[in-house]
Amino acid sequence: MAVERTLSIVKPDAVGKNVIGEIYSRFEKAGLQIVAAKMIKMDEEMAGGFYAEHKERPFFKDLVGFMTSGPVMVQVLEGEGAVLKNRELMGATNPQEADAGTIRADFAESIDANAVHGSDSTESAAREVSYFFNEEEICPR
Ligand code: PPS
Repeated sequence: MAVERTLSIVKPDAVGKNVIGEIYSRFEKAGLQIVAAKMIKMDEEMAGGFYAEHKERPFFKDLVGFMTSGPVMVQVLEGEGAVLKNRELMGATNPQEADAGTIRADFAESIDANAVHGSDSTESAAREVSYFFNEEEICPR
C-alpha cells in the first residue's frame, strides 16, 4: 500500500473535552505518524474557504459557526493508506451511526459536533494539507 498524507482536524468540541492526546494516541497506535501539527482558532473566512465545496448545503452556516467557536488542532498524518485508515479510525459522520470503538462513537455528540475531520480522498488531502501547511512545516521521519 502506498504511503499517503491526510489532513486531520480535532474539532472545537473535542479540544474542549481535553481529548487531543487520546485522539493522537489512536493515530499513533494505528501506525500513522503526525508529521505536522498546530493549534489555531479559525475565523469565518478561513473556515468558509476550507468548507467551500459545501457552501450551498443547508448546514454550511452552522458548520462554519461551529468550526470558529473555539480552537482546533490541525495535523498532517502520514502512513500506508493514511486517508482510508484515518476515515476508519474516525467512524461515520453521524456519531449515532459510527462503529463502536471509533473516535466519533467515543467522543462525538452529534452530526454538528463530531470531534474530527479527515480528508476523504488523496486529492482532497493534497488540497487540504496545503490549505493549512507549507511544505517546510511538514517533517516526515
Ligand atoms: S458529504 O456529502 O459526504 O460531502 O457530506 P458529509 O461528509 O456528510 O459532511 C460534510 C461536512 O459537513 C458536516 N455536516 C454537518 N455540519 C452541521 N450540521 C449538519 N447537519 C451536518 N451534516 C454534515 C460534516 O461533519 C462534515 O464535516 P467534516 O469536517 O468534513 O467531517
